[in-house]
Amino acid sequence: MSEQLLRFESVTKTYISGESRLVILEDLDLSVPSGTSVAITGKSGSGKSTLLNLAGGLDKPTAGSVLFLGRNVGKMHDKALSAFRNRHIGFVFQSHILLEDFNALENVCVPALIRGDGRQATIQRATQLLKRVGLADRLDHRPQKLSGGERQRVAICRALINQPDLIIADEPTGSLDEASASDIETLLLEMVKEEGRTLLLVTHNPLLAARCSSVYLLQNRQLQEGP
Ligand SMILES: Nc1ncnc2c1ncn2[C@@H]1O[C@H](COP(=O)(O)OP(=O)(O)OP(=O)(O)O)[C@@H](O)[C@H]1O
Ligand SMILES: [Mg+2]
Repeated sequence: MSEQLLRFESVTKTYISGESRLVILEDLDLSVPSGTSVAITGKSGSGKSTLLNLAGGLDKPTAGSVLFLGRNVGKMHDKALSAFRNRHIGFVFQSHILLEDFNALENVCVPALIRGDGRQATIQRATQLLKRVGLADRLDHRPQKLSGGERQRVAICRALINQPDLIIADEPTGSLDEASASDIETLLLEMVKEEGRTLLLVTHNPLLAARCSSVYLLQNRQLQEGP
């Protein structure tokens, strides 16, 4: 499939900080075709999270357009944008904020229930996903009774439950030790593939980046393709 799911067209993002104006991204272009996995690497502070926030409609560009399925995300109003995000995008962050009062199964169900899916079907699919990531016997554990790696597995299932067009992952294993990080990374790539999703990923791990369809380096406010 070569259809462009996500496009950045000449995107500039600046932050005003006191007297100064910080230009984080400038005239940046990016195309993410459906069904691919795209890795973004770059030094700390280079603007990777800023770029992901724009891609996911969590923030708006200062200039240029972010087009998702042909729609200009930066121009959408908050309520429409939240509904759009819930339907089309799944997020996995470095340390995912799971809902502490809900168990693993309930945490995974939340986005589907918000969307208005039936309870039984949602529980069934959430259970299936959690089984797939090896948490069949942890369904009723609350986040504080899960390890860091287990919490990230729950976060991956939660990101996938609504079958979103795009999974956005910002250093999803950054808070884990090397061995669990590697397990979770493999799992994330496998799940994205099995479920036929598209992935936009920020990672510091060159081995993980190399397993993606394309790799970009964010440097000097722009993206360069290549490992
Ligand atoms: N809301 C904000 N207001 C002002 N400056 C900001 C804001 N958010 C981010 N920045 C600045 O923008 C730059 C890019 O931040 P960003 O979080 O995108 O970097 P990053 O590449 O994700 O870094 P890391 O690898 O450490 O996560 C940083 O210098 C940061 O201080
Ligand atoms: Mg970041």
